[in-house]
Amino acid sequence: MTLPPATLTAGTWLVTGGCGFIGAEFIRQVLAQQPGVHIVNIDSLSYAASPERLAAVDQDPRYTFIKGDIADPAQVAQALAACARTPHKRCAALINFAAESHVDRSLFTGLPFVRANTLGVQVLLEAARDHKVDRFLQVSTDEVYGDVPAPQRSVETDPIHTSSPYSASKAGGELLVQAFVRSFGFPAVITRCSNNYGPWHWPEKMIPLFIVNLLSGKQVPVYGDGQQRRDWIHVADHAAGILAALLYGRDGQIYNLDGDVEIDNLTLTRKLIALAGRDESAIKYVPDRPGHDRRYALDSAKARTELGWRPRWTLDTGLKETFDWYVANQAWWQKVTDASYQAYYVKQYEQRAK
Ligand code: NAD
Ligand code: TYD
Repeated sequence: MTLPPATLTAGTWLVTGGCGFIGAEFIRQVLAQQPGVHIVNIDSLSYAASPERLAAVDQDPRYTFIKGDIADPAQVAQALAACARTPHKRCAALINFAAESHVDRSLFTGLPFVRANTLGVQVLLEAARDHKVDRFLQVSTDEVYGDVPAPQRSVETDPIHTSSPYSASKAGGELLVQAFVRSFGFPAVITRCSNNYGPWHWPEKMIPLFIVNLLSGKQVPVYGDGQQRRDWIHVADHAAGILAALLYGRDGQIYNLDGDVEIDNLTLTRKLIALAGRDESAIKYVPDRPGHDRRYALDSAKARTELGWRPRWTLDTGLKETFDWYVANQAWWQKVTDASYQAYYVKQYEQRAK
């Protein structure tokens, strides 16, 4: 196995989108496991951000927050300047989580997706190249492969074949990373992960939305026939995979990260209904999502062999932990879905970051 670059485990890492679901889990893990690392987090505080996800590390002297938009070169420059003010004096690694991440919203309007997921990546690449970062990690998705017929599983060399403005904009970002690798020998790694779930997930994606609806006595909206199949990974396993790819991945390589679970939406819905003690009447079949991909499935043999990584959570254990978390944290999910709270926390956080 390749050893990590010596500078990486003692240095400052710029994380983008760290107030989001997965970025926050990554930051929590890194600060707990990597004592030599300082994190600077740049996040635009979109509707999907929740700084409470980082309450556990907020006072850590190795953590700095900058409110900023990755598609704005001046704001990215400010984040890199914040890296230069840390004891390590420079940015050793940039890990890009920042994105508009919800497919259904992208079908409503794709413009914010192209801005964050494609233009934002180009801005980061140029800034990272100018600052000679040791490593750039682009967090991507299995959705870039599009539909995969059973029993096939996507491998990293498969062509990109996107279906939604979300996946197309993520593919655009990835292609720019690959162009930098090819044109400039840029030290980038790309990870492509399957559907995440876990605590702190914003209740617009399937699993948290369904849990919140079930806990609120509402029905859950199953799209179409509910026979679409996904691989589900616990967010802690995804964050661990990204860290492994950052430390041990080879420059220019792509790594699939999967949860070793394949399940159709209806079966998954029934598991959630059982956890909530509800019955089939909780299901509401609604019109299908336009362009809805039928099946995603990843082969992650490369990550397992090269990075020494594998997912640890089983679906049943992870769903139970997640369900219990939403039961115990009703105040959080009620608050983040409230419009007045969204306006309030952005203001508070901005003031504190000054
Ligand atoms: P999320 O929507 O929970 O969080 C995204 C974060 O990025 C938010 O805090 C938001 O404020 C921030 N952001 C958005 N646009 C920004 C911009 N222009 N500048 C700065 N910050 C901005 O998303 P997530 O689920 O945590 O996903 C993180 C990454 O992982 C994304 O790149 C996504 O494409 C990828 N991914 C997600 C999944 C999944 O199942 N959620 C699966 C595979 C890959
Ligand atoms: P989602 O969580 O939006 O993730 P993605 O589209 O990135 O896979 O959706 C997961 C699956 O659940 C997907 O097949 C669409 C389906 N789904 C529903 O059936 N109902 C819903 O309300 C949502 C949000 C998703």
